[in-house]
Amino acid sequence: SDGYEHLRVERHGPVALITLDRPKALNALCDALTVELTHALDATEADDSIGAVVLTGSAKAFAAGADIAEMQPKSFTDVYLADFITSSWERASTTRKPIIAAVAGYALGGGAELAMSCDMIIAAESAKFGQPEITLGILPGAGGTQRLARAVGKSKAMDMVLTGRMIDAEEAERIGLVARVVPSSSVIDEAISAATKIAGFSRPAVLMAKESVDRAFETTLAEGMRFERRMFHAAFATEDKTEGMGAFLDKRKPSFNHR
Ligand code: CAA
Repeated sequence: SDGYEHLRVERHGPVALITLDRPKALNALCDALTVELTHALDATEADDSIGAVVLTGSAKAFAAGADIAEMQPKSFTDVYLADFITSSWERASTTRKPIIAAVAGYALGGGAELAMSCDMIIAAESAKFGQPEITLGILPGAGGTQRLARAVGKSKAMDMVLTGRMIDAEEAERIGLVARVVPSSSVIDEAISAATKIAGFSRPAVLMAKESVDRAFETTLAEGMRFERRMFHAAFATEDKTEGMGAFLDKRKPSFNHR
C-alpha cells in the first residue's frame, strides 16, 4: 500500500499498522526499507486521525538486523560520513505518538534495536531477541548497548552484547525487555487493541505521559519529577481533563475530543 516496496501500511480505526515486508531477507533493514519506514512514520505523525502506531514484521521475523550484504563493503569513512545508522533509524525513537512494536520471530541486531526504539514491545511466544553483532566483528550501533542496558541492566546487557546469545520471549519478559508475551497468533491483535485503547484516551494527556516517561531516561530523578509535575499541571488546562473527571463523577463513559 501507499507505493512502498518493503512495507505495508493499514488503518485500523485510529491506529496505523506498519508491517515490515521484506520476506526474502527476514526483514533485514536495508537502506531502502529504512527510508520507507521514516517516510511512513512521518505520515502517521502528520495525520491527526491517527492516535497510535503498531510496528510489526512477519511470523518468522520482526527484523533480522541491519542488512549484512549492504554493510559488508562499507568502509569507516562511508559509515562515518553517512552517520550510519542513526541518521536513518532515529525516526521510531522520535515519534510523539505512541508506537508499539509487535514482535514475532527474530528481532536481532538492528531489529532488536528498532523494537527497543518503540515505546513498548508486545512479544509473541515465538519472539527471539538478540544482539549478534559481535559475531560479525562489530558491535551494536543503534542503541543495543544503551537502550538495552537501560531496559535490562548491566549483567543481562553484557551477556547479550558480548556473547551474542539470543533470548526467548519468556526470558525477555522476565528481564523487563518486553511488556507482555501473548500467543503468537494473537500478537498483532493484542498490539492493535492496546494501541486502540491508547488512541481513545485524551491525546494531549497521552503525549504528555509518554514524554514524561521518556524523560526518566534522559535526566536526574529530581528534574524528571519536576518535568512530570509541570506536565501534570498542564493537563489541567485541557478540555479532556474536565470531560474525563466529569464523566467519572457522572458515572458515564468519557468522550475525549483531544483538546
Ligand atoms: N542481512 C542480510 N540478509 C539477511 C539477514 C541480514 N541481517 N538476515 C537474514 N538474511 C537473509 C539470509 O542471507 C537469507 O538469504 P538467502 O535466502 O538469499 O540465502 C535469508 O535472509 C534467510 O535467512 P537464513 O537462511 O539465514 O534463515 P535461517 O532461518 O536459517 O536463520 C537467522 C535465521 C538466525 C535470523 C539468520 O538469518 C541470521 O543469523 N541472520 C543475521 C542476524 C544478524 O547477525 N543480525 C545483526 C546484523 S548487524 C546489525 O544489525 C548492526 C546494528 O547494530 C544496527
